[in-house]
Amino acid sequence: MDRPLALAAAVASLGGPRLPAVEWHGTIGSTSDRLKDLARSGALEWTAVLADRQTGGRGREGRAWQSPPGGLYLSVLLRPLAERAALIPLAAGVAVAEAVGDFGVSGELKWPNDVLVSGRKLAGILAEASSGALGVEWVVLGIGVNVALDPAELPDALRDSVSSLWAEGARRASREAVAAAVLARLGVWYDALGAHPQRVVAAWRARAVSWWGGLVDVRTGGAALRGRLIEVDDQGALVIELPGGARRRLVSGEVQMLRPAP
Ligand code: BTN
Repeated sequence: MDRPLALAAAVASLGGPRLPAVEWHGTIGSTSDRLKDLARSGALEWTAVLADRQTGGRGREGRAWQSPPGGLYLSVLLRPLAERAALIPLAAGVAVAEAVGDFGVSGELKWPNDVLVSGRKLAGILAEASSGALGVEWVVLGIGVNVALDPAELPDALRDSVSSLWAEGARRASREAVAAAVLARLGVWYDALGAHPQRVVAAWRARAVSWWGGLVDVRTGGAALRGRLIEVDDQGALVIELPGGARRRLVSGEVQMLRPAP
């Protein structure tokens, strides 16, 4: 069986969604860019694009995503009703954390959806949406999981802040099996967004790094804020308390811990 068919069959065998189309490339610029093109030409929900390596992998906040062989590079197309869209990043984080748990690795979530293990980054998620007159048309969810990647292959600046499933001892994890587990768990949590969105937030909170009360820096939309980490609210926004006591809700950004809660 070829890889796209095998992936669709593996997802189905885990009770996950039916994948109407799957592309698995050797090398590509970015799986998310390819999937956006497909989305614009009317591709169906749960269409997936994967690659063995990316030459132009993109991360959140305009960063590059290093994509050497050994990583899982997966993008999947969702066409949510507007009210489901805001919590998709959190749902995806929960799905990936649960999926890596199937391989014996316990991932923690850093807002909005970084998956960390022992404080090192194991997976990242980039949700990109397009809206039209009728609301959200599509969301391309790009997921990168460090599966068999050797952190030594990464640039010096990243080496100590990144881990992989193999580095955590999960040597039986293949990219195919991890992709199937991620998509199956994503199916569950995407469904939950329709009927029980608060379950998604609760599941996210249960897996979150325990940074509450600590002092953080947040870079958001070109601005930098410093404050105390209060909570992730029911809409999935991060709430921080600024030095004067005012609270700010943030819907996107990058959080860095400065000082844990006393
Ligand atoms: C992050 O910055 O943490 C998000 C990283 C998302 C990377 C994935 S890999 C598959 C998809 N294609 C991309 O170009 N980016 C996403």
